[in-house]
Amino acid sequence: EWRVENYYRYLLDELRREVVDDGVAVVGVSGGIDSTVTALIGRKVFGEKLIPVFVDHGLLREGERESVVSSLEKLGLNPLVVDAGERFISRLEGVVDCEERRRVIGEEFAKIFAEIVEKEGARYFLQGTTYPDIIESGGIRGAASVIKSHHNVGGLPEWFRDRVKVLEPIRYLYKDEVREIARLLNVPWELVERHPYPGPGLAVRIIGSFTRKKLEICRKASRIVEDVLREHGFYGKVWQAFAVVGDDKWVGVKGDARSHGYIVTIRVVESVDGMTADYSRLPYDVLDEISRRITNSIPDVSMVTYAVTSKPPSTIEPC
Ligand code: XMP
Repeated sequence: EWRVENYYRYLLDELRREVVDDGVAVVGVSGGIDSTVTALIGRKVFGEKLIPVFVDHGLLREGERESVVSSLEKLGLNPLVVDAGERFISRLEGVVDCEERRRVIGEEFAKIFAEIVEKEGARYFLQGTTYPDIIESGGIRGAASVIKSHHNVGGLPEWFRDRVKVLEPIRYLYKDEVREIARLLNVPWELVERHPYPGPGLAVRIIGSFTRKKLEICRKASRIVEDVLREHGFYGKVWQAFAVVGDDKWVGVKGDARSHGYIVTIRVVESVDGMTADYSRLPYDVLDEISRRITNSIPDVSMVTYAVTSKPPSTIEPC
């Protein structure tokens, strides 16, 4: 019989077997369930020699940094916060290809973590890779093709792996199993129910050239999508919900004036593990409220659309 308590104990034993000395460990935390559970397992094994690090890459959702830091503090995981927004965004500006953006972000993350590993003299680096991350990156069991290169899988360069031992204690778990462990460890509800969020953040929700303007629109619109779903009791029922911004424009009317505004696409999906997904059949009045709030509060947007294709054939994120 599969019991979460037994499985948790097994994960701790496995991690202890991989730790050969009493060196310091760094763990990258994002506030997501995967990295939070990884950090809690790490805390059990490394005690105070575990340093949680939160990198603000400037691609976070509105208010995310503050809420993540306070949730982590409640769990005794006071993170070291690295303010790196400008470092990431200046390298991303103008980059059209999404895989290239993932590569840049992965590279910048590795550099930042390497700097911290160096400074702290750490011997270990923990990350919250899960099973679907590995499969979708073509990592194991002969997965035929790479769907998307999740930057936290294999994305760490050889020089980084030479410097520290990389540990991935939840690499064989699916999201629902990670959530069960999170509940066992009393992770606050606001973190357990939080939607999965890709490591490269809002950068994978911008189609075409990456610009600060589109980033700003994407951030504001996503906040509205989440707020409206929360207010109507849908947030906890869906897997992910967000806004996407591309280059296409739609003519808008404001009074007598015509203007070209951005098209924002809303994506809300239901899923068990992210491997397949169905678009959420939200009531029209909820979609209507999302649309009105976006066009009313973001002047650069003149059309809101809803994505009605499931995975497959589409992926969840636009790129
Ligand atoms: P897709 O878009 O491939 O997404 O259907 C499946 C799940 O993976 C998340 N995702 C990512 N997570 N780095 C991540 O850490 C990434 O580059 C990345 N791309 C997609 C996505 O949010 C969904 O939950």
